[in-house]
Amino acid sequence: MVPENTSEFFLTPPVKWAGGKRWLAERIEKLWKVHSDKRYVEPFCGGMAVALYINPERALLNDINVHLINLYRQIKNGLAMTIEMRNDRDLYYEYRERFNALVGAQGQETAEAAELFYYLNRTCFNGLCRFNNSGMFNVPFGRYRKINYRQDFREYLSSFRRWDFSSVDFQEMEISSGDFIYADPPYDVEFTHYSKVDFSWQDQKRLVKWLAGLDCPVVLSNQSTDRIRDLYQSYGFELSIVEAPRYISSNGNRNKTEEIIATIRTGS
Ligand SMILES: C[S@@+](CC[C@H](N)C(=O)[O-])C[C@H]1O[C@@H](n2cnc3c(N)ncnc32)[C@H](O)[C@@H]1O
Repeated sequence: MVPENTSEFFLTPPVKWAGGKRWLAERIEKLWKVHSDKRYVEPFCGGMAVALYINPERALLNDINVHLINLYRQIKNGLAMTIEMRNDRDLYYEYRERFNALVGAQGQETAEAAELFYYLNRTCFNGLCRFNNSGMFNVPFGRYRKINYRQDFREYLSSFRRWDFSSVDFQEMEISSGDFIYADPPYDVEFTHYSKVDFSWQDQKRLVKWLAGLDCPVVLSNQSTDRIRDLYQSYGFELSIVEAPRYISSNGNRNKTEEIIATIRTGS
């Protein structure tokens, strides 16, 4: 049975992830509720803040980051932590080296890689996830006073067992009219480096074209820039603008940023 999602009970991401959309989840849920008989699909699931909040019966969660998806798949298989976890610089660099050696030896889809990735994510600088050109994780040690590490991920099991996970470029996903898509790509900013591959302006255009050509309801969010609004509108998306709970600095001032929520075929 799917637990009723009330504001008192919802799961939060097991990882720290840049661009988390927990703050948009109630809005996305309203759009989703009309289509809740459909499979819920996120091509850019990241930390899954929205999926975990909505807790759909069926879901396909995809992200190009293979380490993140390996962690989710291992959690689905009942992952429990066996490595020692401490907020310690030497241990951090030892595990980072071990993780990179495993990845280099084709061991990236193992439970050990998932455990190490979880530890690195919690312990590294700002929860960043960056790789050098050879695909090696290169984020330095973080500066946290205290870190709460999970020993197991049991609370996610009932949801993850109903959900599928994949790690492909969004355009390779198989989508049908029985799906509902929430797409949260990397922001339209000059520097987006979540993975080995950047998400370029060409990718932003490729994405909107792909989404517009499907035959299911789509909700798309992004930073509200002039060119993003023009692009989304030119493909027939309806736009609404919301204030984002983050700031950007310009000329010494802190300015609030705006987020676009673009919809097509949602019936709203
Ligand atoms: C803004 S984050 C998503 C955050 C997520 N909504 C959350 O709440 O945590 C964008 C994600 O897109 C992924 N990504 C980047 N390029 C991709 C591609 N071509 N196909 C699929 N995923 C991609 C990144 O790895 C990153 O996790």
